[in-house]
Amino acid sequence: MTTDQLGRGLRDLRVSVTDRCNFRCTYCMPRELFGPDHAFLPRSELLTFEEIVAVIEAAAELGVTKIRLTGGEPLLRTDLPDLIAAIDAVPAIDDIAMTTNGVLLPAALPDLMAAGLSRVTVSLDALDADVFARMADVKVPVATVTGAVEAAVDAGLVTKINAVVQRGVNESQIVPLAEYGRQTGATVRFIEFMDVGSTNGWDLSQVVSAAEIVETIDEVHPLTAVARSGSAVANRWTYDDGVGEVGVIASVTDPFCRTCVRARLSAIGELFTCLFASSGHDLRAVLRAGESHDALVARLAAIWGVRSDRYSEIRGAHPVQPEGRVEMSYIGG
Ligand code: GTP
Ligand code: 5AD
Ligand code: SF4
Ligand code: SF4
Repeated sequence: MTTDQLGRGLRDLRVSVTDRCNFRCTYCMPRELFGPDHAFLPRSELLTFEEIVAVIEAAAELGVTKIRLTGGEPLLRTDLPDLIAAIDAVPAIDDIAMTTNGVLLPAALPDLMAAGLSRVTVSLDALDADVFARMADVKVPVATVTGAVEAAVDAGLVTKINAVVQRGVNESQIVPLAEYGRQTGATVRFIEFMDVGSTNGWDLSQVVSAAEIVETIDEVHPLTAVARSGSAVANRWTYDDGVGEVGVIASVTDPFCRTCVRARLSAIGELFTCLFASSGHDLRAVLRAGESHDALVARLAAIWGVRSDRYSEIRGAHPVQPEGRVEMSYIGG
């Protein structure tokens, strides 16, 4: 088993299949920077499905069992079910999840499930129409996204909701979202607003801590903590009345680098060993140069073997966002 410099294995590969998105969430793809003039990647630059699967097959030899498809918005990539079916055929992979904004999900559900998708996470930061519109910065009604959550639950997919909490923007939505999760059976996870990328204007004053989020819910619906399992990123809580659970992802106030077994593959085939990295390892060039499976496995092992990333643990009390850090929409969060 290959471990990195801090003794962490590689278990979870997050694969971005496109850098495009049909939303412009202000904390992720602010319209001033991702407007009509933004140069998205041309199709020829993207890894083909065969190339993605080649990387997954190599990563599986190092211990990867979980794949998460991300974007941008992954459902903007044509024929995504074909990719899922090919990943499902890799014997070591036992969990294929996807993170989506939901808009294209209901229509795609039958094909995604038939191909082998195990789980879905829908991003939803508000139930109130105005707050939703302000954060997602699109004309899509919030009912489209809640409709997607409900369609996924009804179809029998294990469904989660990711909600980023930003002070002064959507704290009012914490309790309504928590209640919505309880009603629908989708597990809501609240995410502390992170200083990822270098375009979202992050500063510490906009972070609502996990402790504050839990307290806000607990005042209305009492909660009890569940022990964190293994390499999970969320701290989990169950409702004392037995109806559902909620998670908080405290990457700012309670970092989880020590158990970070995740790598990220960008849409053009760069492998990032940390969400906060400024550069990745170009695997597309070696794939297109015809590198063999064994050589690719050795290359991944070498990359992982020297890894010592633990950004969230060392960011300190007053971090600044440096220029040139990779954007979340580019490596999928
Ligand atoms: P499950 O497989 O369902 O447990 O998903 P997950 O826990 O990996 O969560 P998901 O992919 O939905 O991630 C939720 C959010 O947590 C991401 O969108 C990020 O905002 C944050 N996150 C996930 N992984 C990392 C990580 O390695 N580092 C940091 N700092 N944040 C992360
Ligand atoms: N901080 C925290 N979470 C973020 N996401 C995107 N940008 C940020 C950020 N700056 C979340 C999205 C989505 C997932 C891919 O990452 O809401 O759920
Ligand atoms: Fe798109 Fe997700 Fe980023 Fe919002 S957070 S702009 S839905 S990739
Ligand atoms: Fe992993 Fe980097 Fe996130 Fe720490 S900051 S948990 S090392 S991706």
